[in-house]
Amino acid sequence: MLNFGEGRRSFVHLHDVLDKILDTRMRSILLTVLCFGASCFAQLSSVDAYLKTQDPVSKAGLLANIGPDGAKASGAKAGVVIASPSTHDPDYLYTWTRDAALVVKTLLQEFTTGQDTSLRGTIDNYVAAQAVLQQVTNPSGTVSTGGLGEPKFNINLTTFTEPWGRPQRDGPALRATTLIQYAKWLIANDNTSYVTDKVWPVIKLDLDYVAANWNQTGFDLWEEISSSSFFTTAVQLRTLKEGAALAQKLGQSAADYDKQIPNVYCFLQSYWNPTDNYVTSNTGGSRSGKDANSIIASIYNFDASVGCDATTFQPCSDKALANHKAYVDSFRSIYTINNGIAPNTAVATGRYPEDVYYSGNPWYLTTFAAAEQLYDALIAWERLGELNVTPTSLPFFQQFSPSVTIGTFSVSSSIRSYADGFIAVAAKYTPKDGSLAEQYNKDTGIPLSAKDLTWSYAALLTASAARHGFVQDSWGASELSLPETCSGNSGNIIQAIFNVNAMTVFGENIYITGSIDALSNWSTDNALRLSSKNYPIWSIALNLPVNTQFEYKYIRKSNGAVTWESDPNRSSTTPGFGSYTLNDTWR
Ligand code: NOJ
Ligand code: NOJ
Repeated sequence: MLNFGEGRRSFVHLHDVLDKILDTRMRSILLTVLCFGASCFAQLSSVDAYLKTQDPVSKAGLLANIGPDGAKASGAKAGVVIASPSTHDPDYLYTWTRDAALVVKTLLQEFTTGQDTSLRGTIDNYVAAQAVLQQVTNPSGTVSTGGLGEPKFNINLTTFTEPWGRPQRDGPALRATTLIQYAKWLIANDNTSYVTDKVWPVIKLDLDYVAANWNQTGFDLWEEISSSSFFTTAVQLRTLKEGAALAQKLGQSAADYDKQIPNVYCFLQSYWNPTDNYVTSNTGGSRSGKDANSIIASIYNFDASVGCDATTFQPCSDKALANHKAYVDSFRSIYTINNGIAPNTAVATGRYPEDVYYSGNPWYLTTFAAAEQLYDALIAWERLGELNVTPTSLPFFQQFSPSVTIGTFSVSSSIRSYADGFIAVAAKYTPKDGSLAEQYNKDTGIPLSAKDLTWSYAALLTASAARHGFVQDSWGASELSLPETCSGNSGNIIQAIFNVNAMTVFGENIYITGSIDALSNWSTDNALRLSSKNYPIWSIALNLPVNTQFEYKYIRKSNGAVTWESDPNRSSTTPGFGSYTLNDTWR
């Protein structure tokens, strides 16, 4: 349970919420309580009841999927975490580096806090299995030529050679972070020699891979788009920071990691879309970029010591909250099971709204993540003793109180109720036996795709722990400093916002074309259409290569007829980092 100071604990503590609804102090606080009396209590107690049974069921389900003894993991070598026992439609009886690292990190949460000391053997087996897998030559390469980016292996620790979205560069970072957490505990518990001999060598290979490859594109965590990915960059930042500190502690060189930290940190900033107020989770491609990718990144990099810092995308930061709203809202109208749910109430959420895998459905692990971000935010606000509403986060808070303004406020229970709502949605679609598949059907809520998905169980457990106030140890976010200028550090893409003031007649539209690929190489047919949302200002946000000089012009099209702006061509040079805006007037 939470250990908050007496004075403020009422605003977040579950069992006090009901009392406080009637407390006169509530009248002066920011947010109105969304649920009253019986219905509010019903949600709280049903979420309580669900978690009470679901926590142990999930833990058992998770452990059943780990070799060699897991009841559903037959054939898996010791320490191998299978993704799911499902062998067809889909066949998930493999081990993914990502899933395994996230799952074992969840076990470490219980182990290092002393809640379950029996997990040690499983964790040691995981360490040994990863040491083997790192050395398995695979389609991504050998251990020294890129093989660490291989996403999945057979459960007997051999290479999987079929076509797949590879490499995936989040895997080594996630594995390193899991092992670093274990190493920290081992060092604190007088077992440094095991770290030096067995754990550090595995961590070092992964850290070296991350330091050398963070600026390369790869497949995203959903294994579908090869691009830069917010989640990948975020978890790389964390592991380099934590890894550098561990290296130092062990008397190893941290220089290669320290050198890249500011670069990765800068690059992370470039995913923010300032026009639409959310994180563009994947660069390039035709997706909106609204994606659980960034929600999961936010909870993964939670570090309560930096409060609501937006540069590390803390769960309570204005950017992460604005992003949460954009993400959740993108599912409100696309799943039948969300029909009729009020706009300020939790709904079923999936990977990203454009998803077509199994026709595109909500996922348990993403719905739990939506709740967990808010539980983490509540923990951070409670520590700060207040909550800030900024222009960026205003729309998030307006969901609960339309009249809220920019400023500093106390926290109310409405956010907790909203968070609980996501758990309640998942609970509603959890079968009686508590088994958690990968997805639940968007029309019927019936479980779908891989059964007993290990990651679904882990996601339930971390969300539940966050609800009870569990705070993961700091990963050192407070020691980061964002370079004053990120020039040259941003990876390869920046965002350019073009605004042009142009009066048009009905049926006429404004386009842009120019001298580089991203501007269609002066094609009029493929010129990019601007939005007239803020007419007479026409706008478009585009991803352009960094540090690049280019020329461009706006054109008008009306019934196929093209009118160019007058000469000369406009010209500009993109910055090395972040985003920039060009404000033009048609000429
Ligand atoms: C299998 C991958 O695991 C999944 O993420 C993806 O959506 C589908 N293939 C479709 O590409
Ligand atoms: C598909 C998911 O998109 C991916 O993230 C995951 O690693 C695999 N399934 C295995 O669970």
